[in-house]
Amino acid sequence: MALYIPEDVIETVRNASDILEIVSEGVQLKKSGQHFMGLCPFHSEKTPSFSVNPSRGIFHCFGCGVGGNVFSFIMKRDGISFPESVRTLAVKYGISIPEKEMSPSARREESEREALYAVNKEAMGYFKSVLFKSDQGKIARDYLKERGMTAAIAEEFNLGYVPDGWDHLSRYLSGRKIPRPLAEKSGLIVSKNGERFYDRFRNRIIFPICDMSQRVIGFGGRVLDQSLPKYLNSPETPVYNKSRSLYGLSRTRQALRETETVHIVEGYFDLLALYMHGIKNVVATLGTALTREHVRMLSRCGVTKFVLVFDSDDAGVHAAARSIPVFQKEYVNADILVLPSPHDPDSYIRTFGPEHFRSESEKALGIVPFLADSAIRKHGLSIEGRLAVINDMKPVLGMVEDSVARSLYIRDLAHKIGVDEKAVLEKVQEHIPETQGPVQDEPRAGRPQVHVQVSRFGDMERQIVAMMLQYPQMIEECRNHGVVEYFEDPCFKSIGRMIMEYRGDMNTMASILTTRALDEETRRTISALAIGDIPYLYKNCVNLLHQYITSRKKMDNSLSQRIRLAEERNDQELLIRLIHEKNMLSKTMKNNGLSQKKILNSGIGGGKSI
Ligand code: CTP
Ligand code: MN
Repeated sequence: MALYIPEDVIETVRNASDILEIVSEGVQLKKSGQHFMGLCPFHSEKTPSFSVNPSRGIFHCFGCGVGGNVFSFIMKRDGISFPESVRTLAVKYGISIPEKEMSPSARREESEREALYAVNKEAMGYFKSVLFKSDQGKIARDYLKERGMTAAIAEEFNLGYVPDGWDHLSRYLSGRKIPRPLAEKSGLIVSKNGERFYDRFRNRIIFPICDMSQRVIGFGGRVLDQSLPKYLNSPETPVYNKSRSLYGLSRTRQALRETETVHIVEGYFDLLALYMHGIKNVVATLGTALTREHVRMLSRCGVTKFVLVFDSDDAGVHAAARSIPVFQKEYVNADILVLPSPHDPDSYIRTFGPEHFRSESEKALGIVPFLADSAIRKHGLSIEGRLAVINDMKPVLGMVEDSVARSLYIRDLAHKIGVDEKAVLEKVQEHIPETQGPVQDEPRAGRPQVHVQVSRFGDMERQIVAMMLQYPQMIEECRNHGVVEYFEDPCFKSIGRMIMEYRGDMNTMASILTTRALDEETRRTISALAIGDIPYLYKNCVNLLHQYITSRKKMDNSLSQRIRLAEERNDQELLIRLIHEKNMLSKTMKNNGLSQKKILNSGIGGGKSI
């Protein structure tokens, strides 16, 4: 099926969907005013701060800030993309999604991807039937049994086997009328100079790799003996991208959501062994380094605690140091669990059982303390040893962007090695990049917040946006005055412009705009502003509007006037300052650190009158 869904179909699905019904599938809601309240399914809480407004078709959590419409809810709940969420709801409400005009090239690519999924599925079926049903498969069945794998787990993960030989799969696929070039594109068949085709996987146990929707995107294969290479994987194809795939995720998603914790292991067998022993919150990276995409995918599944599991201290130290920036960029913390040598997760859990694994996992240290401990173990606490520890830790601590976290780590390290905190700080200082102020990276991918106003008029602009979302009759008023174009705050301005351009049913406006919002922060801001009850009267709204326009004009005028005067007097210094100020007027200023709750209380949420 094509991924592109026409706008009017999205509209139909949205209209058919009952947000109250969808949310109620997993959340107990109680009516409270025109809202329904319940415990937020996206963070753990004891008192309900999750609110649904069925008439506006939106939800918002005042605890963790998530919000949006029925599509955003399903996306977040199931960890799926927007088109997938539309499809899910379309199926539920019996709406058929027609294949729509995509550009010819997009359509070709799409149908090629569909064809590749189909080839992979065929191949998986073939490998699986050889493993389970053929005499040739016995050796592989024995191998799996030897490694403690049950038939049930092999079945659940669709393991397979391909016997020795150059063209078992090639012949099978030809028999299924699958064109050569397609089979080659899937990476399953390899050719030498466009001729002499042969199977990539020969005499190997096969592990199908799936995406979140259980489609087969690639394969891994392991030899049954000591021959090399031990593992072979599909190459990158239009459907397989290593940095965006995690083995096992399609089956372990539920457990990740329930526990909010993921164990990240390296190998196929590690994952299968943990899963089989009841540690189901696990994914495997398959020999590649963990990427930001991986972390993001896991965050979207509701994971808040990441535990990286390694076989040895050396591997752990190396990978841990490398993954600091990856986790930091996504604003999540990770713990490191190193299993006692010579175990890997697979052999560990088969030797000691799941309870031991769980208790080890709970004791896992954060990345920085873990690296500190390893350095101390490595160098000891002699004078030279301590110097070496500080030396090893300098770049690590320098990588920690959050200055508060960094100073806590420094204190911890100083304490551990019995050195004065200031001395450690001095050493680390040279590794802290000069430009690095308070964290002001891209919006938090893990948990973006509701927008906090960034300009001096932001407070009024926020209220005007809330007003338009809740009192549609104000939209015309705002349009007549061109109010939105005065807005300084980029987030409120973009929402304001979306409202100006909106030409549909007013009741569903907020819900529709959350779909159009390009980023999570904007989406959350819309839901927060649209869902809070505003106590204003219509008259107050009009007043607010005029008050805003007057103060904006005044500010602009007085500045422009002063700039003109400075020009006349040729006061360069003053001129520069004023121009700077004027620029600042329309420029993003630093986040002023107000919490979301405070913001809502100071305005629409709390009922301050204007
Ligand atoms: N790997 C790979 N290519 C290799 C070696 C390893 O892709 N040549 C990946 C595989 O996904 C493998 C993981 O890295 O599962 C970990 O490799 P390793 O620790 O060497 O093997 P184990 O998983 O312990 O394999 P086994 O228990 O089957 O010996
Ligand atoms: Mn192993």
